[in-house]
Amino acid sequence: MARFETQVGIVGAGPAGLMLSHLLHRRGIHSIVLEAKSRVHCEQRVRAGVLEHTSVQMLHESGVGDRLKREGLRHEGIELGLNGVRRRIPFVELTGKCVTVYGQQEVVKDLIAQRLADDGDLRFECGKVSLQNIATEKPQIHVNRDGQMDEIHCDYIAGCDGSHGISRSAVPDGMLTTYERTYPFAWLGVLAEAAPSREELLYMHHPRGFALYSMRSPRITRLYLQCAPDEDIAQWSDDRIWSELQTRLSCADGWRPAEGRILQKGVTGMRSFVVEPLQFGRLFLAGDAAHIVPPTGAKGMNLALADVHYLVEALGSVYRDGGRRLLESYSETCLRRIWKAQRFSWWMTSLLHRFENEPAFDRKRQLAELEYVMTSRAAATSLAENYVGLPLDGA
Ligand code: FAD
Ligand code: PHB
Repeated sequence: MARFETQVGIVGAGPAGLMLSHLLHRRGIHSIVLEAKSRVHCEQRVRAGVLEHTSVQMLHESGVGDRLKREGLRHEGIELGLNGVRRRIPFVELTGKCVTVYGQQEVVKDLIAQRLADDGDLRFECGKVSLQNIATEKPQIHVNRDGQMDEIHCDYIAGCDGSHGISRSAVPDGMLTTYERTYPFAWLGVLAEAAPSREELLYMHHPRGFALYSMRSPRITRLYLQCAPDEDIAQWSDDRIWSELQTRLSCADGWRPAEGRILQKGVTGMRSFVVEPLQFGRLFLAGDAAHIVPPTGAKGMNLALADVHYLVEALGSVYRDGGRRLLESYSETCLRRIWKAQRFSWWMTSLLHRFENEPAFDRKRQLAELEYVMTSRAAATSLAENYVGLPLDGA
């Protein structure tokens, strides 16, 4: 048994865990990050791609924004499409703010590099991780790596281990309330070696199902197709994927997505999920460990970073002068913003997808709403304000 001491034990090296460790370090607070997977795995996992302006600010202000500044793609709007006709939602004109397209794995790479440059304690490929005594003042994390047990004694534990992690289930039964909704569809996502042929993201409603045109860099396109929740990816040859993308995304003005070699493909389920509260004893949940949004509103990674912002403020206050008020209200503060992002993600999802077997009334109402958002400045402003990210201090 090897014994270690830290102020904050962090489970998970996704955007939430890494950002937390980085920001704590900047306040002189020690942490140890325990990650199940390898560094290479974490750095190559293709997931989110859109950073709200508040997330961009966090990365810049904390000194990890150099590559983001060079390589991030500034997007001043998005386009919505219906029946092959596009309408732009001009974020900057409507809100004065914009978003930045920069892959989640790039954020992860930048944070890992910075933590290692700062001599941070990041432990990849941990074996079985479990949490002990979280209701006491000296909780521990046990790591069982090939029969060798590491015992990490902490002041606080942050559960940043995503939706399938162990932290949430360490909370005793009956102490958390779960709110959730599943959707009758999923997304088939592809990464293609094709130069983006549009400058902005295109969210397209189509009778055959939703499609999204996105990108990662001047050479790489990211595309999604609405599919069945149990879709068998083996049934989707590259030709079939391109043919379906062309059908759903092609526009009346002749625009079509440029094709290229498919580098990666996969199916992602759609779920809205929140647990309340985000804290129990000395355990604090952040990011996907506490909440999941369907990806239509591009909120997941941003919400994870926002939780971390509040947690760092709270822990900073405890270590600075013993003030516990922010820590005690951590869950309440996060949840106000989480529920607004949940509402927005549910709304974007409901607005844009095809709902099989829905009453004809609902289909007509959905189309009317989409037309309204595409033509009303007031409705577009509401979309834009939520998409670029609500202010952190307005929670
Ligand atoms: P994660 O990134 O899941 O990190 C958790 C970490 O914990 C992982 O590294 C995992 O390996 C580790 N872990 C798990 N269990 C254990 C354990 N037992 N012990 C130790 N470590 C463990 N969000 C957006 O903001 N914008 C988007 O455009 C967007 N698009 C998306 C598209 C797709 C296809 C998907 C799947 C997601 C998308 N998201 C998007 C959501 C976003 O990727 C997540 O919300 C984000 O990864 C949450 O970060 P996190 O750090 O909380 O969790
Ligand atoms: C992405 O580029 O992966 C992406 C963009 C916008 C979304 C979801 C995913 O809403």
